[in-house]
Amino acid sequence: MKSPATAPGSERYPVGMTDTATRVLEWLDREQPKSIARLIDWLKIPSISTDPKYKADVAKAGEWCAAQLRECGFKAELCTTPGHPIVLASCEGSPEYKGPHVLFYGHYDVQPVDPVSLWESPPFEPVIRGPKPGEEGGERVVARGAVDDKGQVLMFIEAMRAWKELTGLTAGGVKFTCLIEGEEESGSTSLEGFVKKHEKQLGACDVCLISDTGMLSRTRPAITYGVRGMAYTEIRLHAANQDLHSGLWGGRCPNPITELAKVLAQLWDKKRRVAIPGFYDAVVSISKQERANWKALKFNSKAALKKIGLSPAADVGEAGFTAMEREWGRPTAEINGILGGYTGEGAKTVIASHAMAKVSFRLVADQDPRKITKAFFKWCKDRTPPGCRWEFLDHHGGFGVTTPIDSPAMAAASAAIKAATGKAPALIKSGGSIPVAGLLKDKLGLDTIFMGFGLDDDRVHSPNEKFEVACYRMGVRSHAMFVDRLRLVGK
Ligand code: BES
Ligand code: MN
Ligand code: MN
Repeated sequence: MKSPATAPGSERYPVGMTDTATRVLEWLDREQPKSIARLIDWLKIPSISTDPKYKADVAKAGEWCAAQLRECGFKAELCTTPGHPIVLASCEGSPEYKGPHVLFYGHYDVQPVDPVSLWESPPFEPVIRGPKPGEEGGERVVARGAVDDKGQVLMFIEAMRAWKELTGLTAGGVKFTCLIEGEEESGSTSLEGFVKKHEKQLGACDVCLISDTGMLSRTRPAITYGVRGMAYTEIRLHAANQDLHSGLWGGRCPNPITELAKVLAQLWDKKRRVAIPGFYDAVVSISKQERANWKALKFNSKAALKKIGLSPAADVGEAGFTAMEREWGRPTAEINGILGGYTGEGAKTVIASHAMAKVSFRLVADQDPRKITKAFFKWCKDRTPPGCRWEFLDHHGGFGVTTPIDSPAMAAASAAIKAATGKAPALIKSGGSIPVAGLLKDKLGLDTIFMGFGLDDDRVHSPNEKFEVACYRMGVRSHAMFVDRLRLVGK
């Protein structure tokens, strides 16, 4: 039974929500301290996927997640892959359920913690604390993985827990499949094989839900309708077969660090466009409508720069586009790391035998990561410094995605956020990448709804990552209300 719409916009009595949903939200609020305690438990497991040292911990974090889903009534198993295991869970949905079969995706692996000296508390000893003087926001959980992505996956699980508790039905009778992987932060390398292997089960889903993105700001929840793709490479430039005395050999033979720097410096033209021939060929340009929609969000890019210690002069990027357009709708090239020669204490006069750089590209529709990587390697080859030799590594890649904004599932997500937070979500894109979304679209034709509750000052991937409790609560409530909307489909 639908309860009458009372006090529109109020957080306690949101519009269009069932009586059961009201009880679910109340239960979740009472349960919140226990829910945060569970999050802290999970965050203590150092599931760094890129470093083989943590292999056992990654598996432990996956098992932890599977156990939680079982508690909520899901059938859940930890599936082995050539890399880290994947949690695959499902619930049948009640016989009268008429809504979509939703595939929930998340990841339980985390980024490395270095530089570890910059953490104010150890990355895997989570603390709950208030804001420090000068910090915005409220109480927060500080730990690696707090918002990316354990905290956000747990928002979903806790919503499931509440529906099970109050209705006795797993997921309140909604049909879900969950795929929670342990390799997202290292390029989701086993995922494609896994999706192929489980094509029947995953292909039976109607839409994908991912909680691994952010809001527009603390007070503006959002649905992300697109993320960028990625092509990640490593290039090594080799010269002599040994390190050399820079006095005896300097000026007589190539210095691979100097030569690499000279090549990399050519990667952008004067307009800060990527200089690789054909790089922009497949780029779908930002439509007039999109430009207008984004402008209407009134995002303050100068304020965002200020928060990370930069002046307005730092608003640089491809000429002719605003900061938001550059992040959401344009491709980029980045040097993520560069290494070579002597970097220890004091001075050493040396010409190194080789130098390397990690170079990645953020892609937009319809750029193909494989083609971009190939074009980049060819571009390097065409510029091989005299006497030097390249070695190329293709780490990983994925397509960008854009989700149609007019689907019934999107409307349900939007109504859920409105009911849970009192605010209609903004429609935003993100410059980040979530490789699975492109894969699911490509292989199974699934569109993804990104319903995330992070903030741009959450320090994702960097020291002192945090997730604010108020954001976590909005996320838990929104996921619970999403279930409420789905239960009403066809009623
Ligand atoms: N959750 C992030 C991506 C993200 C963050 C999207 C905030 C939108 C808003 C994800 O875990 C991530 O870090 N992805 C990597 C993917 C890469 C390793 C292929 C990224 O974007 O760098
Ligand atoms: Mn993530
Ligand atoms: Mn991440």
